[in-house]
Amino acid sequence: MSTPIIDDAARVLADPKAYTDEARLHAALSHLRKNAPVSYVDVPDYRPFWAVTKHADIMAIERDNELWINAPRPLLTTAATDDLSQANLAAGGGLRTLIHMDDPLHRDIRKIGADWFRPKAMRALKTRVDELAKIYVDKMVGAGPECDFVEEVAANFPLYVILSLLGLPESDFGRMRKLTQEMFGGDDDEFTRGKSPQELHEVITDFFRYFTALTAERRKNPTEDLASAIANARIDGGYLNDIDCLSYYVIVASAGHDTTSAAISGGLLALIESPDQLVRLREQPELMGTAVEEMIRWTTPVKEFMRTATADTEVRGIPIKAGESALLSYVSANRDEEVFDDPFRFDVGRDPNKHLSFGYGVHFCLGAALARMEINSFFTELMPRLASIELAGNAEFVATTFVGGLKHLPIRYSLR
Ligand code: HEM
Repeated sequence: MSTPIIDDAARVLADPKAYTDEARLHAALSHLRKNAPVSYVDVPDYRPFWAVTKHADIMAIERDNELWINAPRPLLTTAATDDLSQANLAAGGGLRTLIHMDDPLHRDIRKIGADWFRPKAMRALKTRVDELAKIYVDKMVGAGPECDFVEEVAANFPLYVILSLLGLPESDFGRMRKLTQEMFGGDDDEFTRGKSPQELHEVITDFFRYFTALTAERRKNPTEDLASAIANARIDGGYLNDIDCLSYYVIVASAGHDTTSAAISGGLLALIESPDQLVRLREQPELMGTAVEEMIRWTTPVKEFMRTATADTEVRGIPIKAGESALLSYVSANRDEEVFDDPFRFDVGRDPNKHLSFGYGVHFCLGAALARMEINSFFTELMPRLASIELAGNAEFVATTFVGGLKHLPIRYSLR
């Protein structure tokens, strides 16, 4: 049995600022994997939880989705936000996305969007995504020789792809980006609307207000977009209820870009910081597939999800009671020395690469194929045109315990 059960290093997982300092974060996680892979965390403002940091344990928990369920708290939030979310849901409001649901409801609701993200649908989208990748690399030429890569490129390209698929007009893209930043960046001073649970709830209300109008419009005049598919989906003969319908748009419109954006900007930073890998990828474009996986492993844009035990159980010999929640640290799993050779080396040829960035099991990321394609298209366009690149200032990370990555990446470059 691993000891000790409580290790103070695990407090890092409830500290949004820790994610802005990769050295500090990884030092704590490496220590935990070795010394306390299942550690109890009890810190002010949060409900106590178990921090699970080993790859094998996270897979085992995600595989058993009867013993370990997503309800009532699929991710780490403060106790106050958790209370408000539960109260809203009990009153028939609040956010209830796929990640808040368990089977069999989860399975039925997931089906509504699933066809839109399968490989066949991705093949149909590829030409357009390649075109957009070219447009954004061309924009770099216009913005050069220096730019904030996140602001100019990484944040906008995936936003454009997912919101076009959803069917939103380009004039609303900025609004969606801001709402997403306020939702995922609620712990970051640059993005937060306010740190109280009520202010976060207002962000969700703004999303809902926007999508309520969209639902009405798409039910009246259905089109060929994903928003029409969600608005007109039938469950047991009727439309989705308001909360499930609105929440569906929110998860697609938010998870569909901030994540991919973090992988693209963090992937570029990794190439800048490992010039040998940059040269290798440029000289061997056939490595693009493995390079994309490595960028996704390296950046781990979704930091964690949680599961709650439905019965008394144990993980790695540590007893966990029914009703207790476990935080699955994907960031830690993706540096697990027992799974990855030299895990702190960024290796564009890494194969195999069994990263958990997209999770595992029935909730495995719905948009994984799309994210992979976008990242691949972007770097396939960029690499042959990149004559030189270096940092032009400090790379800055967003403060979050959930979704995020770089918020600023100043670069100096020349492109062909
Ligand atoms: C690099 C980019 C991305 C990463 C790292 C990522 C990561 C994740 C993770 C970790 C999960 C939860 C998996 C689990 O619980 O086992 C998830 C779920 C989900 N993702 Fe992604 N994601 C990315 C891109 C996207 C995109 C482009 C979309 C487009 C719509 C998307 C939509 C979703 C949805 C709808 C779910 C919920 C699935 C469910 O609960 O059944 N994601 N994603």
